[in-house]
Amino acid sequence: MEPQSPIEQPLITVQQHILQEQKRFPGASGEFSWLLSGITLATKMIQAQVRRAGLTDILGAHGQVNVQGEVQQKLDVYANEALLHCLRIRESIGILASEENERPMTVHYNSPNARYAVVFDPLDGSSNIDVNVSVGTTFSILRRPEGAGLDDVERWVLQPGARQVAAGYVVYGSSTILVYSVGNGVHGFTLEPSIGAYVLSHENIRMPPEGKFYSVNEAYYDSFPAPYREYLNRLRRGELGRRYASRYIGSMVADFHRTLLKGGVFLYPPTTENPLGKLRLLYEANPVAFIAEQAGGLATDGRLRILDIEPESIHQRTPLAVGGTSEMEALARVLHGA
Ligand code: AHG
Ligand code: MN
Ligand code: MN
Repeated sequence: MEPQSPIEQPLITVQQHILQEQKRFPGASGEFSWLLSGITLATKMIQAQVRRAGLTDILGAHGQVNVQGEVQQKLDVYANEALLHCLRIRESIGILASEENERPMTVHYNSPNARYAVVFDPLDGSSNIDVNVSVGTTFSILRRPEGAGLDDVERWVLQPGARQVAAGYVVYGSSTILVYSVGNGVHGFTLEPSIGAYVLSHENIRMPPEGKFYSVNEAYYDSFPAPYREYLNRLRRGELGRRYASRYIGSMVADFHRTLLKGGVFLYPPTTENPLGKLRLLYEANPVAFIAEQAGGLATDGRLRILDIEPESIHQRTPLAVGGTSEMEALARVLHGA
């Protein structure tokens, strides 16, 4: 008789999954999985610090320098350093661009193997850190454009989101979950802390075509353009078939993650103070738009599909509305005056 395995379900780690996925890339040599393993390692380092954020505070209160807000700031810096540290040594990467750095960083100057740019928001929602609310990391991977030199930083990075070869995010929430896509559906992996591995927990995520929630900072309602106000009114009054409830965390990555799994819509429209919205195109809107579309949802800036926007600068902002088909089609109707 065959001895019974104590492991009941096959355990698929993100590493195994990536290796499988990269077979889709012609001539894949393992370099892409090596690149992504830099991201998974860095996010494990970040989550370890995020989980200790309160302890750092307590130590501070016992004499070591610390003022309100410093932990949060430290974590922004730490998250950035962790990603730079883990990605800098990957030879397949030529350019690293981060929300925390004014200018992108050029790495592997002379290597012909430097084929990718990685753009990221190391810690999204960082003002939520000191109140134990979910934060995250978002990332976008672009291929080096044909003929672009290593000093041609703009050309590597300023590509429309439709050209992302992979994108994803990690939410440091009640558990740590990594969601990514290489353009072949969306898959989620939960960090199993006892073995330190991201394990496949959400295979082939599909965004429900219709949800129950809208997610927006309603404090800015009066300063949204009229069509957005009308849209929110319709959602609230039940004119789209149900009376929507609201959820707003204030960490885009966490608000988006809920929207991905449960459906609905997340919005950061233009406001009087921020006429282009607040979110950044390259490392916030593009990765979530890529994931949303891969999962059957839609993302727009109110005029254009997010993934079609030709970026002009690295830290450029964009209005963002992302969600399931039913909510997004209803938004398009209002924006077009129907
Ligand atoms: P970050 O912490 O990377 O600067 O991003 C914060 C962003 C985003 O996560 C969130 O959706 C938004 O700020 C919330 O802004 P408001 O407080 O204006 O709603
Ligand atoms: Mn952010
Ligand atoms: Mn950030």
